[in-house]
Amino acid sequence: MAARLPDTSVDLVITDPPFGIEFQAKKANYNRKGSRVLEGYNEVKGADYLSFTRAWLAEVRRVLKPEGSLYIFSGWNYLKDLLIALEEHEFTLVNHLVWKYQFGLVTTRKYVTSHYHILFAGIDEKKRRFYPYARFDKEARHPDGGSAHYKDKEDVWAIPREYWTGDVKTPTKLPAEIIRKILAYSSRPGDVVLDPFLGSGQVAVVSQLEKRRYVGFEIVPEYFDFAKKRLESGTYRLKAKE
Ligand SMILES: C[S@@+](CC[C@H](N)C(=O)[O-])C[C@H]1O[C@@H](n2cnc3c(N)ncnc32)[C@H](O)[C@@H]1O
Repeated sequence: MAARLPDTSVDLVITDPPFGIEFQAKKANYNRKGSRVLEGYNEVKGADYLSFTRAWLAEVRRVLKPEGSLYIFSGWNYLKDLLIALEEHEFTLVNHLVWKYQFGLVTTRKYVTSHYHILFAGIDEKKRRFYPYARFDKEARHPDGGSAHYKDKEDVWAIPREYWTGDVKTPTKLPAEIIRKILAYSSRPGDVVLDPFLGSGQVAVVSQLEKRRYVGFEIVPEYFDFAKKRLESGTYRLKAKE
């Protein structure tokens, strides 16, 4: 994956690795206009998930600076593999964030899954950088009362998923707001942000908008080209408010 990146060269990793479940990029699970959804989604088989996770996390451990941070998005199915591999590679788990989204699938025999896990980890707790007032001043008040920065730093984040506004779509795009929030608390302009599983390139696109440097990998050529085009064209297909 990242064998060509130098050791300790990355400030922040934000990534949403492939699922270990039978996920197919097709119109039924993504968008009404299937013809506009890019084909191909490289999934990892369940039995291989732990070894796959160990391998890419070993590279992340190598390239991340001691003061850097790592955020991994995960459903609950293979969460245990991520936790095992993080411990094996001697990452420190800092927070277990929950991203609450809408669009859960309706169920009749169980509860509706409407959250993702975000594992926030570091390497050296004495050195790890965090900017607690990056989004709200100490004095700012939340509209519901209380301190705005406290509310913003609670570990459950309710952030809506986005609709694509452009012609072409890829599945599983992360909302820009969630990436922007992570960038604000765990990086500064000019820092290097890595996403080893770019998909639509959303982490890189928002990093570019927020004046960070970015690097990433994507195994499906159509996704890679799409992400590259978004980065080069400067038309990011983010709505003004995102
Ligand atoms: C969950 S998606 C990432 C979505 C992305 N966060 C976004 O906002 O669009 C995971 C991506 O990892 C890619 N992938 C799978 N195996 C890979 C590998 N070995 N190296 C690089 N990318 C890989 C898949 O093709 C898929 O696009």
